Amino acid sequence: MKYSPSAKSSKPCVLFLWEQGNAYEWKFFMEELVGDIDFRVFPDVGDRAEVDYIMAWMPPLGEIEKYPNAKAIFSIGAGVSHILRDSGVPRDIPIVRLTDEALSLDMSLYALHWTLHFHRGFDRYLRQKQSKTWKRHSYPPNEDRKVGVLGLGEIGGKLVEMLRDMHFDVGGWSRSKKDIEGVSCFVGEEGLAQLLRRSEILISVLPPTPETANLLNDARLRQMPKGAFLINMGRGEAVGDDDLLRVLDEGHLAGAVLDVFREEPLPSPSPYWSHPCVVVTPHAAGPTSVKYGAKRIAENIIKMERGLPPHPLYNASLGY
Ligand code: NDP
Ligand code: OXD
Repeated sequence: MKYSPSAKSSKPCVLFLWEQGNAYEWKFFMEELVGDIDFRVFPDVGDRAEVDYIMAWMPPLGEIEKYPNAKAIFSIGAGVSHILRDSGVPRDIPIVRLTDEALSLDMSLYALHWTLHFHRGFDRYLRQKQSKTWKRHSYPPNEDRKVGVLGLGEIGGKLVEMLRDMHFDVGGWSRSKKDIEGVSCFVGEEGLAQLLRRSEILISVLPPTPETANLLNDARLRQMPKGAFLINMGRGEAVGDDDLLRVLDEGHLAGAVLDVFREEPLPSPSPYWSHPCVVVTPHAAGPTSVKYGAKRIAENIIKMERGLPPHPLYNASLGY
């Protein structure tokens, strides 16, 4: 059902600030809910003072501060670090994250794919093919495979439930204590150590904050069992790159799948590209779906036009 603006007579003016995005597809899905939008596509923005809402992915530095009447900034993605890397971004208007069930499902399926890959030894079969080796490997029943998840928010919360439903022995770690049926939940430094010690496959879906920066350093990676695997789909900043490469080279960890990096695109000199035990994917774990993402942003615009707060908000004091 379409929203009918009541108090406000003019249509909302929305700036689409994502140079690689398909603006007209976004507009199409948003207008299905909001009705007519004065949709401006960067760099063809017209009078910047007319813009009510900015929706952005990787905005050019210095751009967002030029819109004096913007009421909110919508991230076209779950994280907001691509917006906040610009120190000029106004902090007195809401910065709205993008969460939706389709994204949480896609992210969870990415993690499940690689969890099964390592759990069932498919990484070994890929290597064996090179030497035409026909050799089967055994693996424990799912309930004896310990999988750990760092971050139990929108995405991690869904993931642990899916892993649990596949009968894995699942643990999770978050800032605030969670109570999730069938999942061992940990908090704090000691909780992190407990989770790391048990995780044969560890998945990070942590946001980048001062507290999560370099969380997976040499000492913590070595707390994981020998031969364990790491999947990082949160943010690259959570992993000490030199530390990870060292523990892989020394054989303490057996492999890593990395979807996110400190610098993206991953620069060609990065040793990750050629490391035999590292899989690189190009920030592809959970691409934002236009259909669902546009719906979420449109719903938030409707809320704001009615004087209601958008959701979910980036919390500056927590850093995510
Ligand atoms: P949420 O904010 O919903 O969840 C974040 C989780 O991390 C929460 O459980 C939070 O704890 C936990 N957390 C944050 N700081 C700490 C800390 N210091 N110690 C312990 N736990 C902490 O975010 P989402 O689940 O929606 O997204 C998570 C991240 O995934 C995004 O920030 C983004 O970086 C990344 N992402 C990557 C994508 C990709 O394609 N690779 C796509 C989408 C997202 P608590 O529950 O207590 O608040
Ligand atoms: C992200 C996203 O925040 O792709 O990483 O949504």
